[in-house]
Amino acid sequence: MLEFRSDTFTRPSTAMRAAMAAAEVGDDVWGEDPTVRALEERAAALVGKESGLFVSSGSLGNAIGVALGAAHGTEAYAHERSHIVENETGGPAALWGVTVRQVRGEDGFFTPAELARWVPGDPDDPHRAPPSLVCVENTSMHAMGAAWPLAQLSSVAAAARARGLALHMDGARLFNAVVAQGVGADVICANVDTVTFCLSKGLGAPIGSILAGPAASIARARRLRKLLGGGTRQAGIIAAAGLYALDHNIDRLADDHVNARRLADGIATGSRLAIDPSLVTTNMVVACCAREGDNAAAVCRDLAAVGVLAAPYDALSVRFATSLEVDAAGIEAALAKASPVLR
Ligand SMILES: Cc1ncc(COP(=O)(O)O)c(C=O)c1O
Repeated sequence: MLEFRSDTFTRPSTAMRAAMAAAEVGDDVWGEDPTVRALEERAAALVGKESGLFVSSGSLGNAIGVALGAAHGTEAYAHERSHIVENETGGPAALWGVTVRQVRGEDGFFTPAELARWVPGDPDDPHRAPPSLVCVENTSMHAMGAAWPLAQLSSVAAAARARGLALHMDGARLFNAVVAQGVGADVICANVDTVTFCLSKGLGAPIGSILAGPAASIARARRLRKLLGGGTRQAGIIAAAGLYALDHNIDRLADDHVNARRLADGIATGSRLAIDPSLVTTNMVVACCAREGDNAAAVCRDLAAVGVLAAPYDALSVRFATSLEVDAAGIEAALAKASPVLR
C-alpha cells in the first residue's frame, strides 16, 4: 500500500527509534527531563520565541494557544476552513468559552479587509463579545498546503495589532512553509505572539508538537497543559524523536514537495481528477472529481483497491499528502497503479 492519506502516517525510522531508546529522561512535570528541556529550548530558538512547551499534539498546542490569547467570553477569528474551526472538536467554545468567528477568504488565507468584516469596529460595543485573538494556519490546508505569503501575513498581523488583538499561528506544517519559502521559521513567526508546530507530521516523529511564545505566556501554558491532563513524566523518550526530527528531517521536506508536484503532474494526465499542478507548492495535492456523478469516496475506494491510499478532502475532492513514507520511486509506482483508475 502506498500511503498518501496524510503525512501523519509517517513511522519513526530505525535511527529515530535508536535516539529515543538512548534518551536521558526525568520527570517532566517536575521540570526535570533534560531531553524535553533541550527540545523546548531548541524549538523556541528556531521559531524566534523566548520559550517553548512540549505538548502531545497540535490540537493541544492550539487549544492552549487560544486560551493564552483569548479570555473567557471573548471572540477570536479564524478562517472558516481552518483546522481550529473544523477539526478541533469545538475546543475554543467547549474549553474556554471563546466564540470563533469564521473569516472567509480565498484559499485559506485572508486579508486585513476580510478580517475587518468580522471584528467589531468599536471594541466597547456592548452588543459584541470583546475581540481578542486572530488565528492563522500556516501552511494552509485549504490553500492546498501553500504557505501564507509573507507580506500578507505581516499585513494581517499589523491589522490585528492595530486593534489590540493577539495572533496565534497554527503552524502544524510550519517547516513545510520554511522549506517552500526559503526563509527561517523565526522570520515567518516574527509577527505572531504564539505558534504551534507539529513534529508528528512531515517531520516524522511519532508524537508531539511545540507551543512557543513569550516566557510569561509559556509559563501559563505549562499550567494549562497540566489542567488538560497533558503533563507527562519521562517524556524525553518522545522528545528525543522530536530533536532527531529537527536535526534530520527538515531539509528533506523539499523531497516531499518535489514528489507532490510530480504526483500532481501524473494525476493531471488522467481525466477523472482535475488539478492545476502549478498550485502545488508543498506536500499537499488536492484534486477535484471531474466526472458527472463521481465522488471523492468512490475515487479513494478505487485507488485503495489498486494499492494507493488517498483521503477525501471533501465530497468532491481527494487529498494526497506526500511524506517520507513514499519516495520518488514510490510516486512513480503509485502513478502506474493509479493510472487505470484515474485514466
Ligand atoms: C493544520 C493542522 N493543524 C492542527 C492539526 C492538529 O494536529 P494533531 O493531529 O497533532 O492534533 C492538524 C492535524 O492534522 C492540522 O492539519
